Amino acid sequence: MQPTPAQLAALDAADPLAHARGRFRLPEGLVYLDGNSLGPLPAALPDALAATVAGEWGDGLIRSWNDAGWIDLPVQLGAAIAPIVGAEPDSVVACDSVSLNLFKLASAALGLRPGRRTILMEADDFPTDAYVMQGLARLAGVTLKRVPRADLLAALNDDVALLLLTHAHYVTGHVHDMAAMNAAAHAVGALTLWDLSHSAGALVVRLDADGADFAVGCGYKYLNGGPGAPAFAYLARRHWDAALPALTGWMGHAAPFDFAGDYAPAAGARRLLTGTPPILAMRALEAGVATFAGIDLAQAEAKSRALVHLFADGAAGLPGVTVDAPPAGRHAAHVIIRHPQARRVMAALIARGVVGDMRPPDAMRFGFPALTTRYADVGLALAALQAVLASGEWQDERFAPRGMVS
Ligand SMILES: Cc1ncc(COP(=O)(O)O)c(C=O)c1O
Repeated sequence: MQPTPAQLAALDAADPLAHARGRFRLPEGLVYLDGNSLGPLPAALPDALAATVAGEWGDGLIRSWNDAGWIDLPVQLGAAIAPIVGAEPDSVVACDSVSLNLFKLASAALGLRPGRRTILMEADDFPTDAYVMQGLARLAGVTLKRVPRADLLAALNDDVALLLLTHAHYVTGHVHDMAAMNAAAHAVGALTLWDLSHSAGALVVRLDADGADFAVGCGYKYLNGGPGAPAFAYLARRHWDAALPALTGWMGHAAPFDFAGDYAPAAGARRLLTGTPPILAMRALEAGVATFAGIDLAQAEAKSRALVHLFADGAAGLPGVTVDAPPAGRHAAHVIIRHPQARRVMAALIARGVVGDMRPPDAMRFGFPALTTRYADVGLALAALQAVLASGEWQDERFAPRGMVS
C-alpha cells in the first residue's frame, strides 16, 4: 500500500532526526537514496577542507604535522568513530581502505591462532572480503572456507582461526547477531572479524559489549567522509599487545621518527597504521563523522527501518518488480527491488531525479540513511518508480548500460 503525501508529511513533522538533514548539502529536487554507497556532502566540509588547504598546508607547510595535529589525525578520528561503533576510543584508527584493513586484521588473527588452518566466511559476502582472504590464504598457506549463512555455526570447529562476517549484508540486508556469533566463535577458540561497511553509522553497533575481536568499516558510506574516504579498523583491548598484522609500516611503529632499523609496534590500535595518512581525506572524513554529533543511533536505526518498510510495502504493489521483503528482526538501512533489467530501470529512475544503485544481476538497491532521508522521499521515489515502470521508458536507448560503476 502506498502511503499518502499527508501521512508522510506527518511522519516528517514528528521525526526527531529531521534537523540532521540541514547538516548536508543536497541538490535541490533530488531524491538521494544511495547514501549507503556514497554519503552526501556535509555542509561544513568545503570550508573545513579549504581551511586545511590554505592554512594548514599553504601557510603551515611541514610544520602542520605537529602544529595542526596532522600526525595524530588517524587516532583522533578513530576516537571520534569509536562511539558510533560501540568501542572505546583507543581501539579504533582511521586508515587505508576496508580491503587493506581486512588483510591487516585477518593476518593478525592468524598470528594469534598458530596451528589453526582455516578462515571461515559467509559465501556471497561482499567480493573484496573474499578476494582479500583468498590472497591471504595463499600467502599464509591456510584454507578459506566459504559457506552459506545457515551453515556457519556448523562449520565452526577447532581448526578455525578466524570467522569473518559482514554485520549487515550489502545486498540482502541481513544483520548478524553479533554477540551470538562472537560467542559461538569463541566457544571453539576462533576469533571474529566484522565488516561494518553497511552498519557503521546506520545501525546500533556494540563492538566492545558484544565481544568482537576485530572490525573494519567504511568511511565513504554512512559516515559521509567523501569518495574513497579512509576506512577504519578496530582492535579489541584484549588484543592490543599481542595482535601483529602482517602488513606493518612506519606509521604503526612505536616511534616512527626514531627511524629505527626494525619494526616495533605502537601501542593499541595505532599499530594498524601503515603509511603517511592522507590529510585532506582525513579532514573530509572528520567533517563526515561530525555529522553524527548528538545523534542517537537507536533512533537512526528505527527511522531507517520505518523508511525501508514504507518503501518496500509501497513497491510491492507495483507491476513488473519483486521486492525482497526486509529480513525479519534487525536489518540494514537499504532494501532490494528486483527487475530483470535493473540497470536500465535504475538509469531511468536517476534521470527522473531518484538516485539508487544496482547490484547484478537484477537488484536495484535503495538506501535510507536516517540523517538525510525524509519520509516524503519515500513517496517521491515510489511515484517515480511507478512512472518508469508504467511508461516502459527504461527501454529507451539512452538508458542502455554505460560506465563501469553501477
Ligand atoms: C561490505 C563491504 N565491504 C567492503 C567494501 C569495499 O571497501 P574498500 O573499497 O574500502 O576496500 C564495500 C564497498 O561497497 C562493502 O560494501
